Amino acid sequence: MSIAYLNGEFLPRDEACIPVMDRGFLFGDGVYEVIPVYGGRLFRLAHHLQRLSSSLEAIRIGNPMGDAEWQNLLEQVVERNGGGDCSVYLQVTRGVAAKRDHAFPAGVTPTVFMMSSPMGAGRDIDREAGIHAVTLDDIRWDYCNVKAITLLPNVLLRQQAIEAEAAEAILIKDGFATEGAASNLFIVRGDLLVTPPKSPSLLPGITRDLILELAASHGIPFREADITLEELTGADEIWLTSSTREISPVTRLDDRSIGNGTPGPKWHQMTRVYQDYKNAVRAGYAQ
Ligand code: PDD
Repeated sequence: MSIAYLNGEFLPRDEACIPVMDRGFLFGDGVYEVIPVYGGRLFRLAHHLQRLSSSLEAIRIGNPMGDAEWQNLLEQVVERNGGGDCSVYLQVTRGVAAKRDHAFPAGVTPTVFMMSSPMGAGRDIDREAGIHAVTLDDIRWDYCNVKAITLLPNVLLRQQAIEAEAAEAILIKDGFATEGAASNLFIVRGDLLVTPPKSPSLLPGITRDLILELAASHGIPFREADITLEELTGADEIWLTSSTREISPVTRLDDRSIGNGTPGPKWHQMTRVYQDYKNAVRAGYAQ
């Protein structure tokens, strides 16, 4: 039985209920985080809490807790669900208002919800085989750096990708590739790893930052630069990254193969480095 946390209480997830007047339910008025857990340890927790705090600030919800309190509750969610490898979903909404009105209600308490989910089974197999992606117009808003629960464009884009027999959509905005519907984008050109710079057009991914950190510490050349659609389609390798997907190699984009149609050498190299880091965290040797 999966145990969730809702507003001060731990309870079976299927018994956790929110009032219909919750602003998250009525307006998608809230933010979230997805934090991977390896060997019972929350991965890159400080980075996730920092991004949560920025997202809350951006939509003007006061952070309901300090980092120590977040950590304590998140660790309890992990423990009560048996530890191991999983991911924790955390959501904060503006809270429950007396009436439906777009403007912020006065004096409401944010709703805080957390649950744990198993890590996607079969993802390793997907990674080794590579995934298919399609390019689609980025139909989202101007604050994609905020991890908002309002995900309807992302939902529609991912579904369109699935219906085209692809695993993910790569979004194109004004001729540039921004990110995936739920992942960040990297390309490899020769020896160089390239990812778009942080901006309001994309989510500042924790996995993205870790990959850049690992590239720097392992002497892998990288650059943060805009990626045109032509550069994307002509790339030697394309990767999509996220906390749950880790580093997925794209071996087919729209109707053409990327590289020789199998995961490339840079992906193999970075995946080894990433897995070593993950295993060090799991064993308690790294943070
Ligand atoms: N999504 N870009 C978007 C639009 C995302 O939704 C995500 C992650 C990322 C990658 O960020 P990170 O490396 O911090 O996971 C980039 C999560 C996993 C989700 O919505 O389930």
